[in-house]
Amino acid sequence: MIEQLNQLYEDFKAQLSEVADMQQLDNLKTHFLGKKSPMGNILRGLKDATPEQRKELGMKSNEIKNAMTNGIEEKREEMKKAEIDAKIASEWIDVTLNNTESQTAGLHPVSVVQYEIEDIFTSMGFTVLDGPHIETDHYNFEALNIPPDHPARDMQDTFYFENGAILRTHTSAIQVRGMEKIKPPFKVIGPGKVFRVERPDATHEAAFHQLEGMVVGEDINVAQLISTMKTLLSEIFKRDVDVRLRPGFFPFVEPGFELDIACQLCGGKGCSVCKHIGWIELMPCGMVHPNVLRSGGIDPEKYSGFAFGLGLDRLVMMRYKIEDIRNLHSGDLRFSGQFV
Ligand code: PHE
Repeated sequence: MIEQLNQLYEDFKAQLSEVADMQQLDNLKTHFLGKKSPMGNILRGLKDATPEQRKELGMKSNEIKNAMTNGIEEKREEMKKAEIDAKIASEWIDVTLNNTESQTAGLHPVSVVQYEIEDIFTSMGFTVLDGPHIETDHYNFEALNIPPDHPARDMQDTFYFENGAILRTHTSAIQVRGMEKIKPPFKVIGPGKVFRVERPDATHEAAFHQLEGMVVGEDINVAQLISTMKTLLSEIFKRDVDVRLRPGFFPFVEPGFELDIACQLCGGKGCSVCKHIGWIELMPCGMVHPNVLRSGGIDPEKYSGFAFGLGLDRLVMMRYKIEDIRNLHSGDLRFSGQFV
């Protein structure tokens, strides 16, 4: 019987070494230490043994039972530890790792420049206004002295909704909404995205950004308009930039101007961005047309004003020497990552 017990223990050890998971370990435990264990069968033969043999066998069987119980618990601990180790190995994150693939988030260059210009204007006493991207014909055209069928609409073809709403073609719509809310004298700017049906090229996109400005008060004149524009440009470029003023037509201003700056990419020599002209149209502007003041509820006999529309994307391009506007909406991290 001693042999049988030793053999049983050997079998146990062999099977224990084969155990691969907790379920098998539990099965092994039930088999060797449960009610119907082989040990029980062996010990049933004890009734025929002498008292000495019984004593010896009793001790031996206890010894083996303890060894089995210990063996099983050790195995259990070992498996638990292995499980945790495997988890650590697979879920391990090295927080100190300098992963060159991931980039720090940052502002888009258009936002950077927009916020900077907002700061410049607010320091000059302007208020920042906002307006919806989806506009009505009234705010985008009619209130700006552009009636239906006016040829100026050709220049600003846009996207139409079935209910007649449109995607705004310029931030000038913000002027009208501003006049409805604020009474003169006031100085406001309205930055934002605008949309037009364009054939995209290096300087044209169907979605782009403008920053509208409007100053209304008593005796506002062209000299103030020009000096404000000059102050703004020297603040933006942090140096003197060559500018030129030409007559420009916009139904909502009279007189109207085009303010061009010397192309900062080629220094005025001529390149693909300035279409080999050396100048970039940056800031159309002018004195607010009396009809516009009227549609905003302002008496043109009493008040006058000036307005301007700054091409934000073009400014960004000049500032960072970007040769294609399409980069701005490309979503390419190799591009936008350079400005973080
Ligand atoms: N809204 C005009 C445009 O988008 C620009 C402009 C604004 C012109 C204000 C004059 C005054 O083309």
